[in-house]
Amino acid sequence: MRERKSIPFAPNLIESMRSLGYSFETAIADLIDNSISAEASRIDILLSPIDNPYLIILDNGHGMNRDELEEALRYGAKNPLEKRTNNDLGRFGLGMKSASLSQCRKLVVASKKNGLISCFSWDLNYIIQKKEWMLLEYGNEEINSLPQIELLKSLSNGTYVMLEDFDRISSSTYDLNTTINSYMNSTIDHLSLVFHRFLNDGVDIYVNNNKIIPRDPFLSSNRGTQPLPEQFITINNSKIRIKPYILPYINKLTSEDLQKVGGKEDLRTNQGFYIYRNKRLIYWGSWFRLTRKEELSKLARVMVDIPNDLDEVWGVDIKKSTVHLPDAIKKNLYSCIEESIFKSKAVHEYRGRKETVNKDINYIWERVELRDNCYEYKINRDLPQIQLFEESLDANQLKYFDKLITNLEKMFPSTSLYIDASKGKINEEPKNANEDEIQEMYNEICDSLDYSEKMGLNKSSVLESLLKSEPYCNYKELIDKFKIGGNNE
Ligand SMILES: Nc1ncnc2c1ncn2[C@@H]1O[C@H](COP(=O)(O)OP(=O)(O)OP(=O)(O)O)[C@@H](O)[C@H]1O
Ligand SMILES: [Mg+2]
Repeated sequence: MRERKSIPFAPNLIESMRSLGYSFETAIADLIDNSISAEASRIDILLSPIDNPYLIILDNGHGMNRDELEEALRYGAKNPLEKRTNNDLGRFGLGMKSASLSQCRKLVVASKKNGLISCFSWDLNYIIQKKEWMLLEYGNEEINSLPQIELLKSLSNGTYVMLEDFDRISSSTYDLNTTINSYMNSTIDHLSLVFHRFLNDGVDIYVNNNKIIPRDPFLSSNRGTQPLPEQFITINNSKIRIKPYILPYINKLTSEDLQKVGGKEDLRTNQGFYIYRNKRLIYWGSWFRLTRKEELSKLARVMVDIPNDLDEVWGVDIKKSTVHLPDAIKKNLYSCIEESIFKSKAVHEYRGRKETVNKDINYIWERVELRDNCYEYKINRDLPQIQLFEESLDANQLKYFDKLITNLEKMFPSTSLYIDASKGKINEEPKNANEDEIQEMYNEICDSLDYSEKMGLNKSSVLESLLKSEPYCNYKELIDKFKIGGNNE
């Protein structure tokens, strides 16, 4: 056996590293993480969208000397397994490079420490030309010609990160300026939420000199918010803190509060756990499939604080935008809040009463009676077809799916349905089907059964539940076919 060194080919690997899946806002948030870890109290995001757009992130953190900066720009600068201090938001030694270059082709980082400024740059075009991991170091004159560099000079220490040549955005739009500005607006929204605890606690972030206002998703300073007792789970000697809140009733919220909690329409979608890593919000608006996002729990939000020494356990990703909690922890989290949230009187007052015509049928649409004698029509999320489909989705897809269903419900065309029905003009689905249609439904169910088996579910109870569900329950021939075929074994 012989050893052979296999060195990654810089132009290809650096191009692939651009596709980790950052969005504009998650990329900027990753750079802000670094400024916060460097104990900055003020961070300025300066966007110049005109001509050759550039974006600068300037902080007054502890800065880096020349050697530290050169090392910081190296891919994989730090060992992901290394223990980090409990205020460090980093983990992989990649963020600054991978986040910036996911959006642009040139990254310039200048940093000031002990009165000296040093500066390095990764330029994708130069790497392609040289076919090497070739970092560029700037001399004094080059540093002096950087836009707005005087702002770094005026600080006693700090770091200046400049992103230039937004190739991915420009290739997807005719109007780069407008697009970048609109990305910036959603970034402000994102930052105001994910860093709200820092923004409330001595860190100021400005975008072109406008201060970002923190968006506390629990409205914890609102007197109507009901904080519930906190609880702790200990894992590997580290503590996870769980603090549930019940938001005030909607009609008690000001429009500003409503905007903070994500808008009236999205209250239901935004309920759930809010997972923080070292006070930085990573993931929110999910009950991790442990329960459904019901109308009754739409005011419930649970702050979960996980320290960074549990990163390995819960699988934080490079973008710090997803979590993969082990089932045991999820269940633990849920049992901590089940009693206080899902069985609480305050929440129950909200509950709409479901009207069921025949309790042996799983209806697709449910008519729900609200408090004020109004009704709304909801898609039954407990339908086995929906549950099986949800099993195949990851947490993010699940969120989109939930949102899609909520939007379908919201857009239910009740008025035109009423008018058409009153004229007898609704084309009702016939309750009998021809042989081909029965066979098609039979196959559909068989596919679902195969899938449920793969998911480790009990095939015969899935079949029983499917045959009780609309539309299948309407076709006796279909039900008989399963009885005769005995496909439930
Ligand atoms: N604004 C900054 N001020 C001071 N030091 C910084 C700054 N940005 C980056 N650094 C230094 O550069 C190192 C590398 O940063 P990078 O974002 O690439 O990785 P990380 O923060 O260590 O981990 P992650 O990949 O999880 O973000 C950091 O660990 C930190 O030491
Ligand atoms: Mg980082």
